[in-house]
Amino acid sequence: MVAGNVVQQVALLFLLASAVSAGAAGDAAAAPAVDPAAPCVSSGCHSDFNEHSTLHWPGLAQECGECHRPAGSGHEFTVADAPELCSQCHEDRVKEIYAQKNIHFPLEDGCLDCHKVHGSEASALLSAEPEDGLCLDCHDDLIEGEYKHEPAQEGQCVSCHDPHSSPNSSLLLNAEISALCWDCHDDHGKAMNGAKYQHEAGDCTNCHNPHSADHPRMLPAKGRRLCAECHEEVVEAVEGSAVDHGAALKGDECVNCHSPHGADEKPLLKDKPQNLCLGCHDKRLRSGNSVLLDMQAWLDDNEQRHKPLTEKDTCVQCHSPHGSEHLRLLKAPFPAGFYAGFKVDRYELCFSCHDRKAFTLRETSSSTGFRDGTRNLHYLHVNRAEKGRTCRACHDFHAAGNVKLVRDRVRFGQWMLPIDFEITPTGGSCQPGCHPAVGYDREAAR
Ligand code: HEC
Ligand code: HEC
Ligand code: HEC
Ligand code: HEC
Ligand code: HEC
Ligand code: HEC
Ligand code: HEC
Ligand code: HEC
Ligand code: HEC
Ligand code: HEC
Ligand code: HEC
Ligand code: HEC
Ligand code: HEC
Repeated sequence: MVAGNVVQQVALLFLLASAVSAGAAGDAAAAPAVDPAAPCVSSGCHSDFNEHSTLHWPGLAQECGECHRPAGSGHEFTVADAPELCSQCHEDRVKEIYAQKNIHFPLEDGCLDCHKVHGSEASALLSAEPEDGLCLDCHDDLIEGEYKHEPAQEGQCVSCHDPHSSPNSSLLLNAEISALCWDCHDDHGKAMNGAKYQHEAGDCTNCHNPHSADHPRMLPAKGRRLCAECHEEVVEAVEGSAVDHGAALKGDECVNCHSPHGADEKPLLKDKPQNLCLGCHDKRLRSGNSVLLDMQAWLDDNEQRHKPLTEKDTCVQCHSPHGSEHLRLLKAPFPAGFYAGFKVDRYELCFSCHDRKAFTLRETSSSTGFRDGTRNLHYLHVNRAEKGRTCRACHDFHAAGNVKLVRDRVRFGQWMLPIDFEITPTGGSCQPGCHPAVGYDREAAR
């Protein structure tokens, strides 16, 4: 918007530098006579014009009259207001500036909030370079955040903004904010565009303040609080679960596992799921009073793998990475301890993949291989109202030294009891600490 369509003529009173009250405008009667034939810039008069490192144009010193028109008989002149004045010679540029949808607020007042009209020590006739505070003089609040974006802190505002006007919101040089960012962060752009899956979280500025913010990388919130803006349910699960996962609550929190930008693994995982989990579970970690198995070492030492671990999405078939209502972050119930009264729904985890009939039929000739003739030994051990043995009495869930995931030894109170499992083509035997050696044979007649 041009301030007023009517050109306001401003009367300026030029006083000779030697005059008594130099600069006292408006008092025409007090003005001493000036020789109209003398050049305006001469020793003693307006000589400061020669001191600018750059004049508006080289011939300006002789051409004051291009802008200052005599008014009245004394040393009085009028000069048009910017931007009308500027239009005299920069008509196309001025039209172009004001034709845009968004006009920078100071331009409602013309041009002289930023430009000098006679000459200047800065580029583009500016009163100061942007880097020397031109913009920050009015916008210093933008870099009050503790973590500052280097180009904003350095005053390089015009690397992202048009100082005059723009078809884009916030006077941006590019309607595509990511393209603006990738102008300088081209590595980031290449990485993100090269990734198979992108985070569809919208503009970069949904997460990064382009100027400054209170958290590293100019993030407006820390860790999972940032993600909570849009993924409240996940964050609530992480914080409110009976069994929580330090992975989501410590360190980089959500971005321990997810990339905030783009990734080759779904859903935005930084690595293949199993590598991701084993990246931290390659050592013994403390959980409350217990110390967890070094899962990497366990897998390295035990060749017999539970089938889900040899498949692609591995650990999360049984564990919830964000937190869970069940023991050890399991996705479904599974009893703790060596003994538990049998109820089908206590073993929901295992029964989501394995047929429960192996545990509910007293006699069977097909539901399980763990039988002596038709006598179901799974039923015998597990299916008891009280003190049924839980699966961990005999099996491991990740990997084991024996076929059928049978353990080498099992913890019983203070002891680690050996199991000494041997398999045969039609059955097997074991000699655990709890009873003498016994065998089973599926072909035994009973
Ligand atoms: C391109 C137009 C333009 C030219 C050419 C120009 N002036 Fe100005 N001048 C202005 C404007 C506009 C103002 C009012 C500036 C302001 O408010 O900062 C002004 C203000 C002034 C003032 C009063 C305020 C100040 O800066 O001290 C003096 C004195 C002055 N001009 C002298 C001159 C002289 C002498 C010349 C020639 C050597 C000249 N001007 C050339 C546009 C011009
Ligand atoms: C009497 C003619 C005239 C008037 C009036 C005039 N200019 Fe200029 N301006 C020029 C000339 C000539 C140049 C030097 C050649 C060029 O860059 O166009 C120039 C150069 C400039 C430049 C430097 C351009 C660059 O690329 O570095 C800026 C900025 C500028 N003028 C701003 C203004 C503003 C703002 C006004 C109004 C307050 C104004 N001009 C009024 C003639 C004028
Ligand atoms: C808020 C500060 C500000 C105001 C107000 C402003 N300018 Fe500028 N102008 C700049 C800056 C900063 C640059 C240098 C841009 C760059 O380096 O990319 C510039 C550059 C220019 C240039 C030279 C480069 C170009 O963009 O063509 C012209 C001409 C110009 N301005 C004219 C004007 C005119 C005419 C007005 C008033 C209608 C005006 N400016 C008002 C900050 C301003
Ligand atoms: C004379 C004071 C002043 C100067 C100097 C100034 N601005 Fe502004 N600017 C304002 C005001 C006032 C607003 C409107 C209120 C606001 O958004 O803060 C504004 C708004 C803006 C906006 C937001 C526009 C929108 O549509 O949301 C941007 C971007 C901006 N200025 C960038 C700059 C840049 C870049 C510079 C330096 C080239 C600069 N400003 C210099 C006063 C100034
Ligand atoms: C790296 C690019 C970049 C730089 C450098 C930058 N800005 Fe911005 N600025 C933006 C973006 C992008 C937005 C829009 C933010 C949004 O949409 O949430 C913006 C918005 C603004 C706004 C609108 C109000 C606000 O608070 O969001 C102002 C004012 C502003 N910038 C001024 C400046 C000033 C002054 C500088 C220099 C000190 C500067 N900017 C440097 C990218 C930048
Ligand atoms: C004019 C160049 C430029 C533009 C445009 C730019 N940046 Fe930057 N950015 C830098 C520089 C320089 C640094 C500091 C050096 C570094 O860490 O790479 C930086 C740092 C950052 C950092 C912090 C990096 C760290 O390791 O702490 C983030 C985040 C960032 N920029 C995001 C953005 C976003 C988002 C945009 C677009 C709105 C953007 N940048 C546009 C130059 C730019
Ligand atoms: C959903 C939120 C979000 C969005 C959207 C987002 N970022 Fe980030 N960005 C982050 C987080 C969180 C980090 C810190 C990552 C870390 O610490 O590992 C980060 C880090 C960065 C860094 C620092 C270096 C790096 O790669 O880790 C740069 C640069 C960056 N982002 C640029 C961008 C750009 C450019 C865009 C838009 C194309 C963008 N970001 C979009 C959240 C986001
Ligand atoms: C500005 C909003 C916003 C923020 C902030 C945000 N996201 Fe997103 N995120 C989305 C949207 C929108 C989608 C795509 C729709 C969906 O799947 O929910 C998405 C998708 C995802 C996906 C993929 C979901 C899938 O099923 O493929 C993951 C993982 C994700 N975000 C993690 C994060 C993490 C971690 C953070 C914090 C660093 C975060 N998001 C911050 C908006 C956001
Ligand atoms: C960033 C490191 C990290 C990553 C990645 C990680 N974890 Fe963990 N995990 C931990 C820590 C630390 C603990 C110790 C207990 C705690 O702090 O919650 C833990 C505990 C566990 C527990 C035992 C929970 C309990 O307290 O009863 C399970 C099960 C588990 N993680 C599975 C996984 C799975 C599955 C993945 C992959 C989806 C994974 N972890 C990825 C760090 C990690
Ligand atoms: C230990 C690694 C890990 C951590 C930490 C983690 N996630 Fe996830 N996240 C995953 C995995 C693995 C999946 C895929 C789960 C599946 O397929 O069952 C996932 C899925 C998601 C999804 C898409 C599906 C859904 O559950 O809605 C979103 C969104 C998501 N995570 C956001 C977050 C947020 C927000 C945080 C931080 C509060 C976070 N994640 C922390 C590993 C993690
Ligand atoms: C078939 C289901 C299943 C899969 C797949 C699975 N787990 Fe487990 N995991 C369990 C069960 C059941 C427990 C509880 C064991 C117990 O309490 O005896 C457990 C316990 C854990 C524990 C705690 C161990 C301890 O010392 O108490 C960690 C850590 C763990 N799993 C990590 C992983 C990782 C990492 C993966 C992927 C490599 C994975 N799990 C895959 C079922 C599974
Ligand atoms: C995500 C599905 C899934 C879950 C959950 C699951 N398993 Fe498995 N399990 C399999 C598959 C697939 C096999 C391969 C043999 C088959 O097809 O029956 C297998 C095989 C086994 C074997 C025999 C190994 C062999 O070599 O034949 C045992 C023992 C076993 N699982 C125990 C358990 C226990 C105990 C649980 C509960 C803690 C459980 N499984 C949960 C999928 C699962
Ligand atoms: C007393 C030890 C013991 C207990 C307790 C036990 N199993 Fe087994 N299980 C075995 C033996 C031994 C085999 C191998 C049978 C064979 O020779 O093929 C086996 C085999 C399996 C198989 C392979 C298919 C089959 O039935 O032959 C699965 C699956 C299985 N068990 C799951 C479980 C689940 C789930 C639990 C807990 C609900 C459990 N087991 C409890 C000893 C046990």
